[in-house]
Amino acid sequence: MTDALLALRPWEAPEVTSWGRLPMNAVDRRSGALPLDGDWRFQLLSAPDAPVDGPWSSSHVPGVWTMQDTDDLPQYTNVQMPFPEYPPHSPAANPTGVYEREVDIPAEWAGRRIVLQVGAAESVLLVHVDGRPVGISKDSHLAAEFDLTGVVRPGSPATLRLTVVKWSDASHIEDQDQWWHGGITRSVLLYATDPLHLADVTVRAAYSGELRVDCRVRDAGGALPDGWYLAGELDGQPLAQDAEFDRANVEDERVSDFLGEARLLTTVPEVRTWNAETPELYGLTVRLHRADGTVADTSRHRIGFRDVEIVGRDLLVNGERVFIRGVNRHDFHPLTGRTVSYDDMRADLVLLKRFGFNAIRTAHYPNDPTLYDLADELGFYVVDEADIESHDHAHEIADDPRYLNAFVDRVSRMVLRDKNHPSVIIWSLGNESDYGANHDAAAGWVRRHDPTRPIQYEGAAKLGWADPELASDIACPMYAPLEDCVAHALSGAQTKPLIQCEYSHAMGNSNGTLADHWAAIEATPGLQGGFIWEFWDHGILQHVNDGRPVGRGGAGLYDNGVAAPGYRWAYGGDFGETIHDGAFIADGVVFPDRTPKPAMYEHREIAAPVRIECFRHEGVVLTNHQHFRGFDWLAAVWVLSLEDGRTLTAPAELPELCPGETAAVPLPFALPEDGGEAWLTLRVTTAQDLPWAPRGTEVCVPQVLLRAADVPQEPVAAGSLAAAGSIEAAGSVEAAGSVEVDDEGLLVHPLLTAAPALSLWRAPTDNDELGGMAQRWRSWGLDALVRKVVSVREDAGRVTVEAEYAGAAGVVRHRQVLTPVAGGVRVEEEAELPEAFDDVARVGTVFETIAGLDLLDWFGQGPWESYPDRSAGAPVGHHSVPVDGLFTPYLRPQESGGRHGVRRFTLSAPDATGLAVVLDEPRQVSVTRYRAEDLTAVTHHDELVPRPGCVVHIDAAHRGLGTASCGPDTFPSYRVAPGVHRWSWTLRVL
Ligand code: GAL
Ligand code: MG
Repeated sequence: MTDALLALRPWEAPEVTSWGRLPMNAVDRRSGALPLDGDWRFQLLSAPDAPVDGPWSSSHVPGVWTMQDTDDLPQYTNVQMPFPEYPPHSPAANPTGVYEREVDIPAEWAGRRIVLQVGAAESVLLVHVDGRPVGISKDSHLAAEFDLTGVVRPGSPATLRLTVVKWSDASHIEDQDQWWHGGITRSVLLYATDPLHLADVTVRAAYSGELRVDCRVRDAGGALPDGWYLAGELDGQPLAQDAEFDRANVEDERVSDFLGEARLLTTVPEVRTWNAETPELYGLTVRLHRADGTVADTSRHRIGFRDVEIVGRDLLVNGERVFIRGVNRHDFHPLTGRTVSYDDMRADLVLLKRFGFNAIRTAHYPNDPTLYDLADELGFYVVDEADIESHDHAHEIADDPRYLNAFVDRVSRMVLRDKNHPSVIIWSLGNESDYGANHDAAAGWVRRHDPTRPIQYEGAAKLGWADPELASDIACPMYAPLEDCVAHALSGAQTKPLIQCEYSHAMGNSNGTLADHWAAIEATPGLQGGFIWEFWDHGILQHVNDGRPVGRGGAGLYDNGVAAPGYRWAYGGDFGETIHDGAFIADGVVFPDRTPKPAMYEHREIAAPVRIECFRHEGVVLTNHQHFRGFDWLAAVWVLSLEDGRTLTAPAELPELCPGETAAVPLPFALPEDGGEAWLTLRVTTAQDLPWAPRGTEVCVPQVLLRAADVPQEPVAAGSLAAAGSIEAAGSVEAAGSVEVDDEGLLVHPLLTAAPALSLWRAPTDNDELGGMAQRWRSWGLDALVRKVVSVREDAGRVTVEAEYAGAAGVVRHRQVLTPVAGGVRVEEEAELPEAFDDVARVGTVFETIAGLDLLDWFGQGPWESYPDRSAGAPVGHHSVPVDGLFTPYLRPQESGGRHGVRRFTLSAPDATGLAVVLDEPRQVSVTRYRAEDLTAVTHHDELVPRPGCVVHIDAAHRGLGTASCGPDTFPSYRVAPGVHRWSWTLRVL
């Protein structure tokens, strides 16, 4: 006998979005339900219509089978579909998981309405109970509910079968840039209600304190009983049904025997309003009563009073033009793929709060429902995005009427589920799906159902940022050049808020120019922020030996961003996929284990609630850079860092300032006359325990320069290559000892295993590779310059070495003047880059040390990794980090571990022996265990073999990082020009 559901072949029928599925609603059924999570009987079929006659194994629900014990493994593609069939078709080889289990239907559910909820399944779900077809659902990231009342018998067992088809017509509109999986990714549960039940609850809680709760009521038996009514409580205060509303309905003749509508209405005096800084929530309970007063149904909500509106070209929350410091977030976990627990989601959001983020775009589908509860509670603005991305076939699908239903279905179901969350401030119609009538249909539904929130859609906005006809209320481009954004805001033509839905692509060592972006955003009315792409590096924990995903049992097999020996973070291609997009999946601001990348500290400082500026020398100007609150949640300490090594601290009193206000406070220290360069830092921490941070958590470390360095510490040599031999030291050189060089003119030094040489190359970052720079540098031969010594001359103990470094496209002339000084050698360098070498990675010195010098102390920016265009988050001070802790373990090895603005450093052994380097001016420095070629030779972090000594780079110039792997390159001011570069440094033995 052919199965009725299979006979429909719903996996190739885009018109079929569901069958037998209950309407989505916002009634919370999670409490009191019967959880069905755990191990289910499981078979993986080769196609949906293959017979279910194989042996049963087991599979954990919720979970994807691609991360469990099957041969169908994860596959990563970005734009391209993983199969060649065009929409709405799917491949004949179509892995299909059959999940089965028995459920004892509680006897006390007799007479009640019994509902099955499947939290999420991808991409087509077929439901059978005791062999009978019950329903179909698509829409992989929203729940599907089915009424089982007439299908199961309370007090008896029932056999549930959930068949999940991996590839379908729906895959073509779920073509998001992420891993492809198959399975049931969110919890499965059964619940029972009275036949008379709340069908939906819609809450409108305004900034004014006005509360409207609109309820829909139905009875499973059909006609509603007489006399039902609603009541409820708000934080314990009783709420009664609005009589006016009933009457209005009668007059409108909208009352139906089968659908009840009623409203609870009140105004809360002195309401505590909700915003992302002070996310005040109220507990709302809605009760549906029968005429005799008994309670038929209850729904509990946590609600927040707030307004969202667009006025002119500003997006306002509670009347304030808030900055959107956002990130794009996927539901991701390195062990489960897609299934995320409450603790995981809470940890994501806690981390984001600690690093100054206030907004999340649920890229690119509705996230787990708990995410929104946590966003309400912890304080985030959410752009809620529907599960629609047809990237590879975008144009074909946007106007294809066969997909019309799916578009409206997906957008409306999201809105119906999430409409009561104060955190959700904007609806998004999806991502990268071109723009067509299907979008307008979905937008039309939303505008009618929820006029309280704006809509955004990048695919529409890109046709005209200011065009009122397009279905996007926000100009929400992705990766728009900053100058285009500023020009638009200044053009006089702007009509919509400009908030980039994606910007600052975080792939590998990235997020250059973030501070420049924010300086422009804060200075330009009309610009309001954006969402960094993205939160996660989606590396899946994998066994190196057999290439299998580790799965749920892998907790503890990683630490600090690094997988344990024998494991690695897999990216595209690592599961043997032939069609894949490689490391493009590793593009987040956190590692797969949620360890923050250094870019997070940059963001934290850019988002600082407290800013300081130096007010001549009498005092410091402090600004409250928040939108809604004062400084009472913060504590602070002043720290004065002097170049001579002294660090002084003093308690700080934060003034009472309203948002946007400024106050001058006296300098906390009498600045010592001596000590050289002086930096004042305000170390700001949380003053009390907060839901997202214990008391004392660092919030920001704003800093001002109080006194610049007097004179160059180690003066640079004057002169030029043209006048070789005429070098004069500008300061007096205390000649001491002698300098030894070998036949090649290379310095011989007891602490160095490789002499200081010129370096123009860095292990290309993902931005360098995908932006085309690395290709250019390789074609010029910068990765393999051939050094030839031209002359070595000695003059009164000072050795001058002229050398040439030849590449395919030109020759760099380099000169080193080595002068003995007390305890060491001063190195003055000059390099002349031919015009052909325009925009190289770096110009500087590289040398290597003996083993054992394992601690780096420096005065400069830190302690985090920083680069010329990503250095706002690293204050100047005295920092000390073990060499092994300096390297950032990006998934695909690349340039890493740099520190910007370094003035001096020591590299020492535990007995305090070692070397000290003093630089002529603040420079980019890195100390790692790897040569650039070590990093380029491998594809995963675990393949790196650390060298025993240190590889030290001192750069006269170092190219910014930019974001060119997807988006704008770094700015011209952060690029390295050809021509003459000069730098000098002194090396001494400790
Ligand atoms: C965007 C897209 C994202 C992601 C990103 C690059 O175009 O919306 O899903 O692919 O680029 O990482
Ligand atoms: Mg895409």
